[in-house]
Amino acid sequence: MEQKQIEELIKKAQEAREFSYSPYSNYMVGAAALTAEGDIYTGCNIENAAYGPTNCAERTAIFKAVSEGKRKFTAIAIVGGKRGSAGDYAAPCGVCRQVMMEFCDPQTMQIIVAKSVTEYKLFTLLQLLPEGFGAANLE
Ligand code: THU
Repeated sequence: MEQKQIEELIKKAQEAREFSYSPYSNYMVGAAALTAEGDIYTGCNIENAAYGPTNCAERTAIFKAVSEGKRKFTAIAIVGGKRGSAGDYAAPCGVCRQVMMEFCDPQTMQIIVAKSVTEYKLFTLLQLLPEGFGAANLE
């Protein structure tokens, strides 16, 4: 992936993080997903007083895109951290990894776990979800 594209995704994830609705955990997360068509969809975590309905930033971004007809993703940047912190490494939860499995090629999907535009870790989905269960298993 090009450096410029990585930086753009991290910046968009940082911006999306500002919209985090997290009055219970005070842990703010933002994500920016890149579609195969080259569009960027952003999302934040959205919590709920009943806790269970909480939606992670990654799934918010991916579901926004899927609900507009985009079904393939090539990268996603994630920035998390407690309210007040500029950003910390926040690797995607297991549920979000499984959702990525549905809409991404695990070998090439780039997951950018970022603290800032200059401090980030890069993983493929295959690295974070080895032996993942997907649509191919049901063929
Ligand atoms: N969270 C995310 O948005 N993404 C992750 O991958 C990890 C967790 C959110 C859910 C909840 O609102 C808060 O972070 C604390 O778990």
